[in-house]
Amino acid sequence: MIRSPKTQEEWDSYYDLRYTILRAPWNQARGSERNEGDETAKHFAFFDKESIIGVGRLDIMPNNVGQIRFMAVSAQQQGRGIGKNLMLHMETMAKEASCIEIILHAREIALPFYKKLDYTISEKSHILFNEIQHYLMRKKI
Ligand SMILES: CC(C)(COP(=O)(O)OP(=O)(O)OC[C@H]1O[C@@H](n2cnc3c(N)ncnc32)[C@H](O)[C@@H]1OP(=O)(O)O)[C@@H](O)C(=O)NCCC(=O)NCCS
Repeated sequence: MIRSPKTQEEWDSYYDLRYTILRAPWNQARGSERNEGDETAKHFAFFDKESIIGVGRLDIMPNNVGQIRFMAVSAQQQGRGIGKNLMLHMETMAKEASCIEIILHAREIALPFYKKLDYTISEKSHILFNEIQHYLMRKKI
């Protein structure tokens, strides 16, 4: 089931997965997995019974554009369709919020995942932690 976290325990688990997958391997401090945008964004967690095993954030931007950020699936659960499910769910939610396009900054390693979901590379974007090249990708929805 995909839904927003509700209880404090669920929120802790949501941010913990983000931290574990997207920050800890690069020795980043706890807290670095959050930013100000978290207060206004839409948050989505993939639940396996009580456990959160996938997360993603949707920002509704000006001009009917949605931006997907902080996509992460638990290491043991990758490659089983959870990321795809989360992406399709967030696309539906973006459409409901009147978005006509989704943008995202993909890590180089995740490019095949987003390409499979019909995102196309628009340009090279930033480098995170001095090593992770990102690419701006887009998809009309
Ligand atoms: C990238 C990530 C979110 C993808 O989620 P996932 O649950 O592992 O991916 P899925 O199982 O839903 O894959 C969906 C499709 O993409 C394909 N795919 C996923 N990763 C791929 C890869 N590296 N190379 C080729 N194909 C890939 C899958 O084979 C699958 O194809 P199918 O629909 O034909 O079966 C997840 O692996 C992850 O958290 N990675 C580490 C963190 C990260 O890089 N996050 C993205 C930051 S931009």
